Amino acid sequence: MVLTQLTSFANIGLKSERITVEVGSTMGEANMYIVGLGDAAVQESKQRVRMALRTSGFKFPTGRVITVNLAPADIKKVGPRYDLPIAIGILAAHDLIDVPHELLRDTAFLGELALDGSLRHVSGVLPAAIACAKLGIKRLVVPASNGPEAALIPGVEIIAPENIIDLIQILQGERSADVIAPPAAAENLWQASIVDFADVRGQEHAKRALEIAAAGGHNVLLSGAPGSGKTLLARAFRGILPPLSNEEAIEVTQVYSVANLLPKNAPLIQERPFRLVHHTASGVSIVGGGQVPGPGEISLAHKGVLFLDELAEFPAQVLEVLRQPLEDRQITITRAQGSVTFPADFIMVAAMNPPQYSAGDGKRIGRRISAPLLDRIDLTIDVQPVPIGDLQKKPGQDAETSAVIRARIQGARERQAKRFAHLPISTNKEMGVKQIDALCPLDSKSAQLLLQAVQRLGLSARSYHRTIKVARTIADLAASDNILAQHVAEALQYRQSIGVH
Ligand SMILES: Nc1ncnc2c1ncn2[C@@H]1O[C@H](COP(=O)(O)OP(=O)(O)O)[C@@H](O)[C@H]1O
Ligand SMILES: [Mg+2]
Repeated sequence: MVLTQLTSFANIGLKSERITVEVGSTMGEANMYIVGLGDAAVQESKQRVRMALRTSGFKFPTGRVITVNLAPADIKKVGPRYDLPIAIGILAAHDLIDVPHELLRDTAFLGELALDGSLRHVSGVLPAAIACAKLGIKRLVVPASNGPEAALIPGVEIIAPENIIDLIQILQGERSADVIAPPAAAENLWQASIVDFADVRGQEHAKRALEIAAAGGHNVLLSGAPGSGKTLLARAFRGILPPLSNEEAIEVTQVYSVANLLPKNAPLIQERPFRLVHHTASGVSIVGGGQVPGPGEISLAHKGVLFLDELAEFPAQVLEVLRQPLEDRQITITRAQGSVTFPADFIMVAAMNPPQYSAGDGKRIGRRISAPLLDRIDLTIDVQPVPIGDLQKKPGQDAETSAVIRARIQGARERQAKRFAHLPISTNKEMGVKQIDALCPLDSKSAQLLLQAVQRLGLSARSYHRTIKVARTIADLAASDNILAQHVAEALQYRQSIGVH
């Protein structure tokens, strides 16, 4: 009996768990078994590996019973990513390759095999590279097309061959591995192009509210007639968000890696995501899930914008499931095998037509957005169409560009970063009740104003706290250490501007 052990990884949400691929071989009638909670793609690995080894010129061992064990047995193994470690394990167990034991021990393997022995792109390589760095695994072998993505993580040597023959020659020291080019930034990944604020005529009120939303990370509802410029404003909004930090870029890229949505050869996402979601989209595609839980739109919008156009048209149950991630900034998907968590820290920008009222009895026509969801919308913006005449004018000299607005937003973000220097948060929207109490004192005038508004508008406790957070952002934009009555007054204005309540 001979036994070889190799390292690979399974993805659980964004986490990569170490998987040991054990290959055992005994004399007997030729057969191959794969055990250890593998799905259908893992079972089919047998055929792919056997054929790929043959076409690559190896004699598949005859007269042996080969058992592949994927451990630990309580983690579900999904997809074809184990083809490569299984193939290398079989070759090593039967002394068909001459690779030093330590080299195999210090290396992790991920990759799907095509029947001709070439390596096919797999999802979730970036989280595996991060896990290698954490666990002190020196080397990671991935398909060539996954190389740049894996190379994002310093300290792990990446081997990214085109096929299994090249890999074996590298492992046997007969040729050197190609150096992986530093990854370029992914471009044109989003459905929406950026519109510059200077190209949006008028709309000063909406622009101001969007500036506040971007500065503090608050959620926005644009309410206005068709053609009033809601989609235009939402697209412009993305362009005033501050750039992603390196840490955020890696986080976002991990989501796209697991979703297998990284553009090949340009895998680092350096721009904030903008996800436009249509009301016909399924709950699973929005929130995430599926047989093998994968990230949904809310996670693909992580650190960016989730744009829900025609909010009133979304099915009530879809809007209901948005409530929890809007609060927790992550989503937990529960399955019989255990739960999976994906990050979902996005700014929600919603658009809808203003509610209509019957001429007869003044009653509201059409569906209402549920109060708990409206509670989580911090700024409601009444978008009035700009007169056609104004659209024909050239933009004024004084029309502010997105770059100018973004600079102010960055100033406000820096004030927030300073305030939260010793806390695990970075923007006002993330404050919990304790932090609001400690960090957002109101003077008596502001407190009085807020109290009156709460009573007059019937605001919930959640709305009360969220209003203070918006006031804090408005104060940050004004470079004011204290929240003043005028900041509270402006914050309140966005809570009451339209009759959606
Ligand atoms: N303030 C504005 N400045 C420049 N163009 C505008 C403005 N408002 C509307 N438009 C034009 O009208 C079109 C329709 O606007 P859109 O954002 O799609 O409206 P909505 O989403 O509210 O239905 C835009 O593509 C743009 O060409
Ligand atoms: Mg629109």
